[in-house]
Amino acid sequence: MKILVTGGAGFIGSNFIHYWLEKHPDDEIINFDLLTYAGHLESLESIKDNPHYSFIKGDITDAKAVDEVVSKVDAIIHFAAESHVDRSILDPLIFTKTNIIGTQILLEAAKKFGIKKFHHVSTDEVFGALPLDSDTKFNEETSYNPHSPYAASKASSDHLVRAYHDTFGISVTITNCSNNFGPYQDPEKFMPRMITNLLSGQKVKVYGDGKYVRDWLHVLDHARAIEMVFLNAAQGSTYCVGGMTKDVNNLEVAQKVIKLLGKSESESIEFVTDRPGHDRRYAVDWTKINKDLGWEPQYDFDSWLEKTVKWYQENESWWKPLKEKSESIYKK
Ligand code: NAD
Ligand code: TYD
Repeated sequence: MKILVTGGAGFIGSNFIHYWLEKHPDDEIINFDLLTYAGHLESLESIKDNPHYSFIKGDITDAKAVDEVVSKVDAIIHFAAESHVDRSILDPLIFTKTNIIGTQILLEAAKKFGIKKFHHVSTDEVFGALPLDSDTKFNEETSYNPHSPYAASKASSDHLVRAYHDTFGISVTITNCSNNFGPYQDPEKFMPRMITNLLSGQKVKVYGDGKYVRDWLHVLDHARAIEMVFLNAAQGSTYCVGGMTKDVNNLEVAQKVIKLLGKSESESIEFVTDRPGHDRRYAVDWTKINKDLGWEPQYDFDSWLEKTVKWYQENESWWKPLKEKSESIYKK
C-alpha cells in the first residue's frame, strides 16, 4: 500500500513513520510536511535512504501541491497541524488555516482521486475540560466543547472529516487521542520542556497551581492505536485513545521526572503565570478501542516515563539545537 503521511516530520508523525516501516516494510510512505518550527527531518535521519520512504516539502493548504501528491497514493494518514495550545493563544489564525482549511483541502483531494482510506489524527481537547477529582471521562459520545483556538480548530476539522464521509462517501476514520509523550517531541511542549530544562540545569516551569490533569499516553501506544483503527475499524468510525487509569497532575509528573533525574525538588520547580483558559482535566475512556480492536497501552505510565527521560538524556544532539528557539516563545 502507498500511504501519504501528512506532518510526518513532527513528533507523532515521525514516530509513526518509524513504527510503520518496521511493521509493514513492504508499504511505501510519502511524508508531506511544510517543516514549520515543529518539523524536524533529523527525527527521520535513520530512514532517509530507505527506498520505501520519501519526503516532499509541501503545504496542506496548497491545493495544487496536495492534488499532485494525493494522486500518487492509496491512503492518507493525516497528522499535519498546528498543535501547540500556547501558540494558538499567541497567533490563532494560522490554526484555522492549517487545521481547518488544510484538512478540507486534503478531503477534497481524497474525493477527487478516490482515496481508499483517510485516517484523521485528532485530540481529546475537542471535548473541553472535566472537573478535578471526578470520575468522568471523555468517550466517543461526549459532546464537543472546545476552549482553546487549537481545540476549536481540531473540532472543526473532525466535523469536516465526518461531513465528507456522510456527504461524499469518503472512507474515513478518526482517533481522538490524549496527550502524547516520547522521543522526538519538540521541547516547547510540557514533557520535553521539563526534561530538557532539568538536563540543562534549569527549573521546571509549572503553570498556575500545577493541579492540571492530562491523560498521558506514550507515542508508540498511539501509533499502534492508529494502525489498528486504520487497518481494522469500520469506515466512518471514531475511537477515543488514552493511557491512564489514575489521574496524575502536572506537579506530580514534574516530581516523578525530578526524582528520575536525581534532582532536588525544592530547587527544581518554578511556578509561573497560568495559561489563559487553561483546561483543568482531561481523562479518556478507552473502552471502545479495547473491546473492538484489542488495543491497550503496552506499559504503564511510570515505565514509559523512565524510558522517555532516558531517551532525552541519550539524545542531547537531537534536542539541544532546538532548545533556545523553543524557549523564545515563552518570552512572548
Ligand atoms: P507537531 O506540532 O509536533 O507536528 C506537526 C507537523 O505538521 C510538523 O512537522 C509541521 O511541520 C507539520 N505542518 C504544520 N503545518 C503544516 C502545513 N500547513 N502543511 C504541511 N505540514 C504542516 O504535532 P504532533 O504533536 O506530532 O501532533 C500531530 C497530530 O496529532 C496533530 O494533528 C495533533 O492535533 C494530533 N494530536 C497530538 C497530540 C499530542 O499530544 N501531541 C495528542 C492528540 C492528537
Ligand atoms: P502541553 O504540553 O502544552 O499540552 P496541552 O496544553 O495540549 O495539554 O501542556 C501540558 C500541560 O502542562 C498543560 O496543563 C499545560 C502545562 N504546562 C506547564 O505547566 N508548564 C509548561 O512549561 C508547559 C509547556 C505546559
